[in-house]
Amino acid sequence: MTIWDELKDHRDANGGLRILDLFADENRAETFSRRVDGLLFDFSKTALDAGAMSLLLELARSRSVENRRDAMFAGARINETEGRAVLHTALRAPGGVVELDGRDVMPGVLETRSRMADFANAVRHGGLVGQGGTYTDVVNIGIGGSDLGPAMATLALAPWADGPRLHYVSNIDGAHIHDTLAGLDPARTLVIVASKTFTTIETMTNARTARDWMAGTVADPATQFAAVSSATDKTGAFGIPPARVFGFEDWVGGRYSLWGPIGLGVMLAVGPEPFGQMLAGGHAMDTHFREADLADNLPVLLALVGIWHNQICGHATRAVLPYDQRLARLPAYLQQLEMESNGKRVAMDGTDLARDSGPIVWGEPGTNGQHAFYQLIHQGTRIVPCEFLLAAEGHEPDLAHQHRLLAANCLAQSEALMRGRSLEEARALMAGKGLSGDELERQARHRVFPGNRPSTTLLYKRLTPFVLGQIIALYEHRVFVEGVILGINSFDQWGVELGKELALALEPVLSGEVDGAEKDASTRQLARAVRTGSL
Ligand code: F6P
Repeated sequence: MTIWDELKDHRDANGGLRILDLFADENRAETFSRRVDGLLFDFSKTALDAGAMSLLLELARSRSVENRRDAMFAGARINETEGRAVLHTALRAPGGVVELDGRDVMPGVLETRSRMADFANAVRHGGLVGQGGTYTDVVNIGIGGSDLGPAMATLALAPWADGPRLHYVSNIDGAHIHDTLAGLDPARTLVIVASKTFTTIETMTNARTARDWMAGTVADPATQFAAVSSATDKTGAFGIPPARVFGFEDWVGGRYSLWGPIGLGVMLAVGPEPFGQMLAGGHAMDTHFREADLADNLPVLLALVGIWHNQICGHATRAVLPYDQRLARLPAYLQQLEMESNGKRVAMDGTDLARDSGPIVWGEPGTNGQHAFYQLIHQGTRIVPCEFLLAAEGHEPDLAHQHRLLAANCLAQSEALMRGRSLEEARALMAGKGLSGDELERQARHRVFPGNRPSTTLLYKRLTPFVLGQIIALYEHRVFVEGVILGINSFDQWGVELGKELALALEPVLSGEVDGAEKDASTRQLARAVRTGSL
């Protein structure tokens, strides 16, 4: 019998128990929570009990989570399908030695960090200006990991934003760059072309569009461009001088790259100091992840809760619900982080995965989501484990009453999900409204909440740069641990390739250059309709 089977047996044996009943243990909230460096992670509103936890920890040990973690930090080439090390953690290290193949990568990391800071300071304080004067706006052109992380962090750190306005353009849809550039002054706009490979079609196309736009006003547009890439040979060909190119190496995966030059936009917006605090928060989480016992290790615990819900209970999705408007882009960021990392159908050795891949991740900030999809979360037939995030304090002291309402809503949601409302309670409610007989019964049934729906809450004092760094690194390591347990390589992304290849082949079909006779009838029909516009 495997540990997986034991876990399922345990789930079945406890099948009749309700989460609320587990609170008969008056220490439950404390036992199933951890406090680490100002974060409180409460996973007591799940069906996990001591037995399940001990099996899950055994599972983690049996999958050598600690060894794999140490191998990652030691620069082993754990991204086996690409033959690469995974060392994004070095980007947020304060110093020390991080060796890759006997070479210390830290001097290069620190040098790039300090070049970024010099550049950011010069742009922010007028040492480096556009043709029309001090830069008022910065447009970051990138997609996926070269967009989602910095865009999410720039919004999250809005209270620290005292530099130029940051705009993020990602989509190949011309509407995106068109609408972004529409209100900007080309002579006072800096463009960052952010692409690890410097070949991504969306980014390179948008970069050329931005250059053409600027060329209408600015004598030498290249002087108002910077590049962030690990393909520094290609940035020169685009006309960006080496002094404004910030490189990083292939041991940083795109979706893990926020901490280095891909975060340049964030640094320009908030300045090097808060950016450094974000790195410090990420590094503090790295230290915790490396040193804490598995049973007290936040990334490991988040991963085990995830494995329990996804693999043992069979819940296909999880909702990330930040009650923090400035984390509005966190769910989108986590979608890439989690689904590009763990959405794999084969194990590391290429054999079919013996179980489901990682979950579907989605979400929106509260309280907005409450007025949209929470209906299904509360009363739908499928169970969606929810992950709430909440700050104890907001940033606006004069709006503390609004923050209290926000927090009350967040806590109320996890309580309602767990507690539910029974048919008897619903009947009493309807009787109180003067209903009786069949009508009471019918109306009452619509007002039943099954409850017993799991959620976790991550509470932090305030969304500071340090806390943001902690949260991002927490999720990164959670994804890593889940991947190790599933036996997946969390650091490649072959699943994005086929669509890219077919899109390249379809473009000439749409322009009429080739007829696309080899395509299936549906694709031919759609292509014809797009080409001719006759629907
Ligand atoms: O298409 C997927 C992907 O390769 C992501 O992994 C990556 O973050 C994104 O494209 C952008 O890639 P690049 O930074 O090389 O432009």
